[in-house]
Amino acid sequence: MLFDTRPKSKREDFFDRDKEIEELKDVILHKDFAAVLGIRKIGKTSLVKVTLNELPDHISLSINLGKIGSKKSYPMDTFSRIFIEGAVETLRKYTFAGKVSKIIANRLGIDPSDILELN
Ligand SMILES: Nc1ncnc2c1ncn2[C@@H]1O[C@H](COP(=O)(O)OP(=O)(O)OP(=O)(O)O)[C@@H](O)[C@H]1O
Ligand SMILES: [Mg+2]
Repeated sequence: MLFDTRPKSKREDFFDRDKEIEELKDVILHKDFAAVLGIRKIGKTSLVKVTLNELPDHISLSINLGKIGSKKSYPMDTFSRIFIEGAVETLRKYTFAGKVSKIIANRLGIDPSDILELN
């Protein structure tokens, strides 16, 4: 959806970043490392989401380090918790139940993550 304030995940909704998408794809396919940097709301998360969406053979794991805040040090279990949250989300996305949710969501024309949230 064009005026959705959330990050985009489809190329057709994400404008004028074809070059960046191809560059990031190339880095991932070469098993290289990339950091996507930029000012707030420039489209960093969207770039990563759109790119990964076009690489269906790859499984992604997202870790939201923003939840740690700006502290210079934090306990290991804080990181472990955030890592496990990301891992659970990945399992939901790529397991059979997650895939079934996605098919149903596509048929109903709604966002698959809404169904996953309910689960
Ligand atoms: N090239 C673009 N085409 C369409 N929408 C865009 C584009 N760039 C950014 N947006 C939109 O701007 C908003 C912010 O994008 P996004 O969340 O991807 O940016 P971000 O850099 O990750 O932000 P933050 O700094 O908060 O992490 C979203 O609604 C996104 O869809
Ligand atoms: Mg972001």
